[in-house]
Amino acid sequence: MEAEDEYEKKERVALVVIVVLASLAVASLLVAFSYYCYIRNKVSKSLRNHARAEYENKGGFSNSQVVTEKGLHVFTFKQLHSATGGFSKSNVVGHGGFGLVYRGVLSDGRKVAIKLMDQAGKQGEEEFKVEVELLSRLHSPFLLALLGYCSDNNHKLLVYEFMANGGLQEHLYPVSGSNALFLKLDWETRLRIALEAAKGLEYLHEHVNPPVIHRDFKSSNILLDKNFHAKVSDFGLAKLGSDKAGGHVSTRVLGTQGYVAPEYALTGHLTTKSDVYSYGVVLLELLTGRVPVDMKRPPGEGVLVSWALPHLTDRDQVVQIMDPALEGQYSMKEVIQVAAIAAMCVQPEADYRPLMADVVQSLVPLVKNHRSISRAANSSSFHATRSPTVLDSGKAGV
Ligand SMILES: Nc1ncnc2c1ncn2[C@@H]1O[C@H](COP(=O)(O)OP(=O)(O)OP(=O)(O)O)[C@@H](O)[C@H]1O
Ligand SMILES: [Mg+2]
Repeated sequence: MEAEDEYEKKERVALVVIVVLASLAVASLLVAFSYYCYIRNKVSKSLRNHARAEYENKGGFSNSQVVTEKGLHVFTFKQLHSATGGFSKSNVVGHGGFGLVYRGVLSDGRKVAIKLMDQAGKQGEEEFKVEVELLSRLHSPFLLALLGYCSDNNHKLLVYEFMANGGLQEHLYPVSGSNALFLKLDWETRLRIALEAAKGLEYLHEHVNPPVIHRDFKSSNILLDKNFHAKVSDFGLAKLGSDKAGGHVSTRVLGTQGYVAPEYALTGHLTTKSDVYSYGVVLLELLTGRVPVDMKRPPGEGVLVSWALPHLTDRDQVVQIMDPALEGQYSMKEVIQVAAIAAMCVQPEADYRPLMADVVQSLVPLVKNHRSISRAANSSSFHATRSPTVLDSGKAGV
């Protein structure tokens, strides 16, 4: 009996010891875990502060981890301020409907073009959102790449890849406000630009679903890189649209004078065929070296389409409207083909205009033909005129 009591007592003591030891173990685990959490929190806080300080102070693109799920970089205003030397006047490369365009260099050495949106005008803010959204979805070698943007308080900016030779219009006719050296493009380069721009529009119309209508296709929205390869820019006015028979997007009439298709100007009805019309106007600029609307010209010559259209289908007459700067360096066969494409694109009746895929198909052989000529004869006249012809007045490439 006594032995049994003794045994029970020992058992109780052992149980108490086990409970105490277990509680101690749990308590020390809890203490250790809380300490671990405290240290971890402290370390990550200091890392975060450090990263933020680095991001803000260095303005570093390469250090920045701020990337949207679409792969766009979100810049701070400070970063873009320092990339453009404080938005210095000497870095302004253009001024469009959006605002000033600056040349900039990011801290990783990348050259960019930065568009600073004018504070005035609500339309711009809407365009900003549309463009960011659209460009982040669209990727083609023939479309200008958007690298990122900034939307700090009142500042809205877009950051694009830099195109060393600026807008196509600068190489076709003198742009007001500049008396720098004016570079004119040779025929082969013009053909290639026509094809690359056509491929940009073809992508928007036929490789994106639903199709994207550019709505402001024009020569200043065709940008040229250092080798004069072309990319289509500015989808700020673009809207998702339809090119189905009879399908259209009803909207406010926007776009630029001289490029707007008649049905779009009259009714606001918009299809991909409106872009085809604007493309035709750009082809006419490439052929003639003339501005789409120039009321200083003699009567009947002010509007490029009306002046050129009657000449486009006549072999003898088409020579008369060609850009004199080309100095006859083209083959008549090619000119007639390009003039015929232009004539179809600017048809007043939208249904008679070709699809951009048709335009691409027609231009491919012409550009290919030049490539093989250049390869076969290194010193051919085509090769010799490959780079832009320098004229004595006007504006230089950027
Ligand atoms: N990515 C770029 N690289 C180099 N230069 C550029 C770039 N983007 C624009 N530019 C220059 O800035 C000029 C103005 O461009 P911007 O797009 O602001 O105006 P726009 O094309 O004349 O009119 P809109 O605002 O209607 O498009 C261009 O003609 C070109 O010279
Ligand atoms: Mg533009």
